[in-house]
Amino acid sequence: PKAGPCAMVIFGGGGDLTKRLVTPALYNLATTGLLPDDFAILGVDHSDGTDEGWRDSLSEMMQGFVGGSGEFDPAKIDVEAWDWLKSRMFYLKGDFEDPKTFEAVKARLGDLAGSHSTGGNALFYLAVADRFFGTVVDGLGAAGLTESGDGAWRRVVIEKPFGHDLASAQALNARVLKVLREDQVYRIDHFLGKETVQNIMTFRFANGLFEPLWNRDHIDHVQITVAETVGVEGRGGFYEATGALRDMVPNHVFQLVAMVAMEPPVSFGADDVRSRKVDVFKSMKTVKPEHAVRGQYAAGTVLGKPTEAYRAEPHVDPRSHTETYVALKLDIDNWRWAGVPFYLRTGKHMSARTSEVAIRFKPAPTALFAATETSDIQANWLAIQIQPEEGISLQFEVKRPGPVVDLKSVKMNFAYKDWFPAQQNVGYETLLYDAMTGDQTLFQRADQVEEAWRVVDGVLAHWGRSAPQDFPDYAGGTAGPVSADLLLARDGDRAWRPVRLDPGPKQ
Ligand code: BG6
Repeated sequence: PKAGPCAMVIFGGGGDLTKRLVTPALYNLATTGLLPDDFAILGVDHSDGTDEGWRDSLSEMMQGFVGGSGEFDPAKIDVEAWDWLKSRMFYLKGDFEDPKTFEAVKARLGDLAGSHSTGGNALFYLAVADRFFGTVVDGLGAAGLTESGDGAWRRVVIEKPFGHDLASAQALNARVLKVLREDQVYRIDHFLGKETVQNIMTFRFANGLFEPLWNRDHIDHVQITVAETVGVEGRGGFYEATGALRDMVPNHVFQLVAMVAMEPPVSFGADDVRSRKVDVFKSMKTVKPEHAVRGQYAAGTVLGKPTEAYRAEPHVDPRSHTETYVALKLDIDNWRWAGVPFYLRTGKHMSARTSEVAIRFKPAPTALFAATETSDIQANWLAIQIQPEEGISLQFEVKRPGPVVDLKSVKMNFAYKDWFPAQQNVGYETLLYDAMTGDQTLFQRADQVEEAWRVVDGVLAHWGRSAPQDFPDYAGGTAGPVSADLLLARDGDRAWRPVRLDPGPKQ
């Protein structure tokens, strides 16, 4: 169903996030008819501009927009949908630190309620640098924009980073929640916009088959990999102060952990789901520094192309201590998972772009079948492929045909592409639609954010104090530093899965 009437105010209307993700997602929603009939968008930014100028710059971007997860084809732009959207776009020049800006926004919202029948409902989207989150929220509050006074809703969307450690995350939440109620705050983690991530809950709770095995009795350990081939892509300045752990783990990777580890919620209501997820975070033991490995890429060859070391990237200190790779061993100390380690890793300039959640089941109780030269008896793995291949595969043993008893690991595969038409999504469509319709299920609650930082805070502090001796310690285009292998090897018969796209069955 279509979302109800509303205005969307984009702070940072001239910025990158608006161009690359928000606008294409709005366009996609327009083509599927999910945007409200009564709708208007107000872009706010500090540079001079006009409605026409803003529309033109976004049109230009739409024409040139190629790539993204869904391979957006400019030749296929639905002109009618784009024109519909464009005609509802308005621009306002304003400094985020100036109270007058918010008064002007208020006046414009009043106009739009008249001209576009938005009903006074407003979604404030903060597509701004994180240092402005508090400023804009305070500005909205001071201008009385966070309450309509007549029953119309007011919501605010923010996207990570939500602080850079536990203390700063607490401070940000406190500042935001002084002005807004939690049910007005939509904290985006864009991994939750991915279909394959949302599907983990469906896979677990819509099937009777796997859940009985989903616990410490049957699972040996879980591996979560988010491997990227890109480097820091000109974002050296941002990345120097961030690093792989802050950038990826307490947010994106932990969201994957929560999906895998959560208890069944009593309903799919936003707070029922989010409470079960926060339970997972609360059960996580604080990671000890000896259970964390950091790495930094050296020069190398990524996907056949020579690449520079991280330290040679623009805006990066030539002796930088910032990690571009992190691996952690995580203990979830609850009834279901006690004793089942979750090994997590993520890095840049690795050998392949691949994200997966892989679950290794315990072996059969006795070894009836001996390993032979050709038998490759392996553990049973269930691998949920998040991207770029999307699907689920289950690996098990079969008897190789022939008179000799000989085993072979094979896979049963589900690939999205075999069952569903490819989508042109940029990954924000569901999130924007949910924010307009008031569904917070896929958004991070304040307690989730803080609990997640708590788990990694000790490692961050430890790394901040102690300089790595061996950086850079992995060549671009490899699976990461060798030290990460030890994290698993010292727990016995465990090793990381290869970082590569699944080559499929051997011929
Ligand atoms: C972002 C990080 O949040 O997620 C980036 O800041 C990272 O460094 C990106 O590359 C990964 O997202 P995706 O959707 O491309 O896997």
